[in-house]
Amino acid sequence: MNIIEAIRGRASTRAFLDRPVERETIEAILEAARWAPSGGNTQPWEVAVVTGDLKKEIGDRMVEALRSGDKGNADYQYYAHRFPEPFRTRRFTCGMALYDALGIARSDKEARGQQWEQNYHGFGAPVELYFFVDEALEMGSWVDTGMFIQTVLLAARAYDLETCPQAALAEYPDIVRDVLNIPCGKKLVCGLALGYPDREAPVNNYRTERAPVDEFTRWY
Ligand SMILES: Cc1cc2nc3c(=O)[nH]c(=O)nc-3n(C[C@H](O)[C@H](O)[C@H](O)COP(=O)(O)O)c2cc1C
Repeated sequence: MNIIEAIRGRASTRAFLDRPVERETIEAILEAARWAPSGGNTQPWEVAVVTGDLKKEIGDRMVEALRSGDKGNADYQYYAHRFPEPFRTRRFTCGMALYDALGIARSDKEARGQQWEQNYHGFGAPVELYFFVDEALEMGSWVDTGMFIQTVLLAARAYDLETCPQAALAEYPDIVRDVLNIPCGKKLVCGLALGYPDREAPVNNYRTERAPVDEFTRWY
């Protein structure tokens, strides 16, 4: 697979096979991703690889928190409080495409809620990665970590693995730090579901759209 194929073929995956991922494979992905660039080569990313009972415990506690009405206390604001256009429409279209693929009607709040809850168990992926940045660092280090995460997504594809980045899992950073015994000074960027994709699952068989180059580029 060349680099363009790896980029073009990646899609957020929300159904996985019940097949574990070898530790050596995850190490190989992180070994590749550590070559991502960062300002001053500071390499600010920190990663927790979570599987098995601890992964389940985090998911169970997040779902419990959600159901109790706890909206979480994310370490940073990921989404705008009010999206102006065109971002609002793009976000809406993306959500509708997901629910269409699953045959969930817009009015079916319960089914949408159940689908949303699957986030907290990484959509059944056997591995969840959590990415952290130290609180002493600034926004640039979060940019660096975004580059690192994208490199993980692409490197995973070399091993027939797929991923779903998950801001949903950053909503409850205290649960993650508590279960994993991570200091509160490590700020949670997002989670990442990692596993072998269920290619038959309808949820994995739609593609999101992108604006054409002309729409976001000015040439001088
Ligand atoms: C940082 C980040 C956080 C995301 N959080 C979630 C999430 O919590 N749940 C989810 O289902 N998808 C999440 N996504 C996936 C996006 O919805 C997806 O990337 C977007 O719709 C484009 O689709 P594609 O990844 O299939 O190309 C996230 C993506 C990124 C980059």
